[in-house]
Amino acid sequence: MILVTGAGGTVGAEIVKRLQILGARFRAAYYTQSKAEDAQRKGIDGVALDFAKPETIARALAGPDGRGVDRVFLISGNVPHQTELELNVVREAKRAGVVQLVKSSVWGAESEAFSFARIHRPVEKEIAASSIPYTILRPNGYMQNMSTFYAETIRAQRAFFLPASNARISHIDVRDLARVAVTVLTDTSHIGQAYDLSGPEALSYEEIAQKLSAVTGREISYVDISDADFRKAVISAGITAAAADAMLELFQYYNSGAASRVSRNVELLTGHAPLSFDEYARDYRSYFLPSAKAAG
Ligand SMILES: NC(=O)c1ccc[n+]([C@@H]2O[C@H](COP(=O)([O-])OP(=O)(O)OC[C@H]3O[C@@H](n4cnc5c(N)ncnc54)[C@H](OP(=O)(O)O)[C@@H]3O)[C@@H](O)[C@H]2O)c1
Repeated sequence: MILVTGAGGTVGAEIVKRLQILGARFRAAYYTQSKAEDAQRKGIDGVALDFAKPETIARALAGPDGRGVDRVFLISGNVPHQTELELNVVREAKRAGVVQLVKSSVWGAESEAFSFARIHRPVEKEIAASSIPYTILRPNGYMQNMSTFYAETIRAQRAFFLPASNARISHIDVRDLARVAVTVLTDTSHIGQAYDLSGPEALSYEEIAQKLSAVTGREISYVDISDADFRKAVISAGITAAAADAMLELFQYYNSGAASRVSRNVELLTGHAPLSFDEYARDYRSYFLPSAKAAG
C-alpha cells in the first residue's frame, strides 16, 4: 500500500485523484484533521498525520489493523523547519521497513544554490544514506503557482508583480508531477533515480501574461518590481521575513537562467508529452476571471 503525505495540498491532491482512477491501494495523510475526515466520508483511507509528531507517522505507516504501508510519497509544504519535519518521515519509514520512498524535492536541489534547494537537499542526502530504496523527483516551478498565488491580483488588477524580469522557467503542471509520481510508485525500475521534471517550454513571465490574456480575453500584465518592493508586499500579506527572503533567493535563481532548461523526463517516464502552459491556462481559466470565487 502507498502512503501519500501532503494529500490535501496542490500536488498530493492530484496524486490521490490519479491513484483513485487507477484503483490502487493507498492511504492519504492530511495534516488538517477535517480533511482526513472529509476523505474518509468519500471512501478514501484518510489519516491525520503531523510530521512534527513521529508517533502519527508511525501510525499512518502501520495502519489501524496492521495493513501496513510499503511505499511512501513524501511532500511537505514550505513550512518552518521543513527539513527536520521531513527527516522525521525518513526515520519512521526506515523503522517501518518501507520498500520505496519517493521524495518530491525541487529543481536544482543538488546545486544547493538557493533557499529551497538547501531545504530539500539534506532530506535527499539522508534518504540516499538510509538504505531505503528511493526515487527523487525534482520538479521545476509549478504552473499552478499562477492560480494559487497570483490569481488574486490578476482578478482584481489584471496584473501580477514579481522581481523576475530575466527569468525563463520551464514550469511543470502539477498534474504531470502527479502522473510521474504514480508511475514511479508503481514500478520498481525507478529505484535509486533522481529525475528533473519540467514542462515542455521555458517561458518568461511576460509570455505567461500574454497567454493568460489570450485565454481570458482580458489584458493581463506582468509587472517587474524590485526585490525591496516584493519583500514589502509579501510581508504585508502575512509572510514571514525569512520566507520572503527565501522567495527572493528563488527569483534570483530564476533570473540567472538556471530554471530554463527543458527536461524530457515527463514524457520518458509516463509516455505522455507534458502539459503545456496553454493547456494549463485553458483548464484553470476561471481562476483568472473577475467573477471567480476565492481560488481553491
Ligand atoms: N510551488 C512550486 O513551484 C514548487 C516547485 C518545486 C517544488 N516545490 C516544493 O513542493 C512542496 C509544496 O508542495 P505543494 O504545493 O503540494 O504544497 P501545499 O499545497 O502547501 O501542501 C502541503 C501539504 O503539507 C501538509 N502539511 C503542512 N504541514 C504539515 C505537517 N506538519 N505535517 C504533515 N503535513 C503537513 C498540508 O496538509 P493539509 O492540507 O492537511 O493542511 C498540505 O497538504 C514544497 O516542498 C516546495 O518546496 C514547490
